[in-house]
Amino acid sequence: MQRIFSGIQPSGIPQLGNYLGALRNWVALQEGHECIYCVVDLHAITQWQDPRELARQTRELAASLLACGIDAERHVLFAQSTVHAHVRLAWIFNCVARMGWLNRMTQFKDKAGRDRENVSTGLFVYPNLMAADILAYKATRVPVGDDQRQHLELANDIAQKFNHDYGVAFFPTIEPVIQGVAARVMSLRDGTKKMSKSDPSEQSRINLTDDADTIAQKIRRAKTDPEPLPSEVVGLDGRPEARNLVGIYAALAGLDLQGVLIEHGGKGFGAFKEALAALLVARLAPIAAETRRWLADPGAVDGVLRAGAARAAAIAEPIVDEAERLVGFLKP
Ligand code: TYM
Repeated sequence: MQRIFSGIQPSGIPQLGNYLGALRNWVALQEGHECIYCVVDLHAITQWQDPRELARQTRELAASLLACGIDAERHVLFAQSTVHAHVRLAWIFNCVARMGWLNRMTQFKDKAGRDRENVSTGLFVYPNLMAADILAYKATRVPVGDDQRQHLELANDIAQKFNHDYGVAFFPTIEPVIQGVAARVMSLRDGTKKMSKSDPSEQSRINLTDDADTIAQKIRRAKTDPEPLPSEVVGLDGRPEARNLVGIYAALAGLDLQGVLIEHGGKGFGAFKEALAALLVARLAPIAAETRRWLADPGAVDGVLRAGAARAAAIAEPIVDEAERLVGFLKP
């Protein structure tokens, strides 16, 4: 059975992009795979986090993942900082990855912006830790949204260089699982920008715990153009906001873009937005309710994470012990 690994940062309740681009696939892949899912708090502190908020958001995110359908009995759910294998392997990878490789990472450039001299060094080596997350389990399939593609290519470069430098076939090749019409969900305010938890505008995203009124209002105010919906997919070219809303609808309804246009082509955005809001509410309301149920019992969430950490460590520690032996560390 193939082993899956993926992670998500505890920087607030997941938004619709996280859900459609990644979490929904996490849930689906539980059938037929051994899955290890991680709340990546070590990655979160590459940018400043208030300590009390970080702890609260880690628990809240775990609750949200359970509510989405992660089955922590059959699979593994834990917080990254509680399994030390991640940082041990990340250090080795800091010494394998090349400056030039990391300099090419577009997400670093986006996040650092013009403030390059002032961002943490952790933000620069962030992709090395991500490679360590996956390879500490020798996981071979990684479900993510499209924005993580470059990081996974780098992880494969690191694995290959490690194998080459130490003359071994130790780390496997990783296969990104980037699926569906919603691998890149865009902002509701700007169809050329990714939907993101860190966007200052609440109106730009749907959060998985938004109530029905909030969802309807955000969709009603979502940016569109004055034309009706086209009846063919090519008619979405050059219309990023229209394409995004149709893509979201398609992902939620289990259709492709053309399928949505067969139903809604020719309609104005008023009617389409109403249908989209209703679909979102129908899909997200049960997740919001289930998240609240988990959060009412924080001890239960912590128990899941504690048990998950023990099971994750049991897999990762021997693999990282072996990597350290290959590097030449004395294990007296
Ligand atoms: P993060 O926390 O930014 O996002 C979690 C997942 O959600 C996907 N995603 C999106 N998909 C489609 N449209 C969007 N607008 C959108 N926004 C986010 C992301 O692609 C991701 O799959 N570095 C990772 C976390 C990580 C990780 C790992 C992932 C750490 N270690 C190891 C895989 C394997 C991140 O910051 O994701």
